[in-house]
Amino acid sequence: MSTTEIQSPTGAPYAAILGIGSYRPERLVPNSEVVEAIDSSDEWIQQRSGIKTRRWAGPEESVQMMSVEASRRALAHAGLDARQIDAVVVATVSHMLQTPAIATAIAHELGTDQAAAFDISAACAGFCHGVAMANDMVRGGSAGHVLVIGVERLTDILDLYDRGTAFIFADGAGAAVVGPSETPGIGPVVWGSDGEQFDLIRQREDWRDVIASGEPVMPHLMMQGNSVFRWASFAMAKIAQQALDRAGITLDDLDVFVPHQANMRIIDAMARSMKLPARVKIARDVADMGNTSAASVPLALDRMIQEGDAKSGDTALLVAFGAGLAYAAQVVTVP
Ligand code: UT7
Repeated sequence: MSTTEIQSPTGAPYAAILGIGSYRPERLVPNSEVVEAIDSSDEWIQQRSGIKTRRWAGPEESVQMMSVEASRRALAHAGLDARQIDAVVVATVSHMLQTPAIATAIAHELGTDQAAAFDISAACAGFCHGVAMANDMVRGGSAGHVLVIGVERLTDILDLYDRGTAFIFADGAGAAVVGPSETPGIGPVVWGSDGEQFDLIRQREDWRDVIASGEPVMPHLMMQGNSVFRWASFAMAKIAQQALDRAGITLDDLDVFVPHQANMRIIDAMARSMKLPARVKIARDVADMGNTSAASVPLALDRMIQEGDAKSGDTALLVAFGAGLAYAAQVVTVP
């Protein structure tokens, strides 16, 4: 056994979200623009999902561009310079190169000093996974400040003729700066996965099968919506309660609830099942943003801050779930 003593990293006593920023694509797409291809109606979509419009990215609004814009706003909100960022963690499923990680290009364009940069794949739960990792990185000493980005350009993998997905998914980016804090600003994460339900939301075919088929058509995103709906409405309320318990708080201490923006009926079902008091403000960004997967939680929280529904110092509960099925929840202090 070696007798050499290795220094162990030491970080800040606590971490918190210091700033939030987001980017919404210019183009608003009302239900009327998507219904024809899927033989649907504005009424059905609103009734089943609560979605009225969504935003779809234009050619210039790439994963990188939207991420950089959201990040600049998050840095400005935190009052920090990009050179103070030690690590960039990007949660996405719609960066279209297998390698390298888009985080490296984003870190470079932002002007970080060669920050560590990598992507994570946890679908709609990706941002909450990233916040959990950043919390541990800052407290563990592997980074002073971490930029966590949730970004999607799902229209690149969306089948506009698929009734189960075409009206739901959309594009956008949200970012948070996580850094040291005098008091705990991010509670323990409650996270997990149910791989038995791997096939419920997935890329339809393996790339190799697409090429072998001789008809190289984009392997789109597919979802067995109703099964996911039933799972999320019940299982996620329990995960949300566990996140409160692990943070040592009760519903009485909660000011803001920011669930993944998948479907207004899931949001309402979770709130009912959790017995959320009426005074707790609930994020309802899905109505005009659709489901932006990894971007949905930071987009929704940023909007609540902008519109005065979430105030600095408020206590917020974040809960996200999606393909995998992967999920994560934590309590945070609003920056
Ligand atoms: O972000 C990752 C996590 N994702 C989610 O959490 C999504 C969860 N799922 C959902 O949001 C919902 O399942 C949907 C909004 C996707 C669908 O709503 P639903 O209430 O689960 O509808 P359904 O699939 O059970 O279909 C109900 C009916 C069916 O007709 P019948 O069999 O009752 O006659 C469908 O054929 O609605 C029909 N239908 C449609 N009608 C008009 C299915 N899709 C459509 C459509 N337009 N686009």
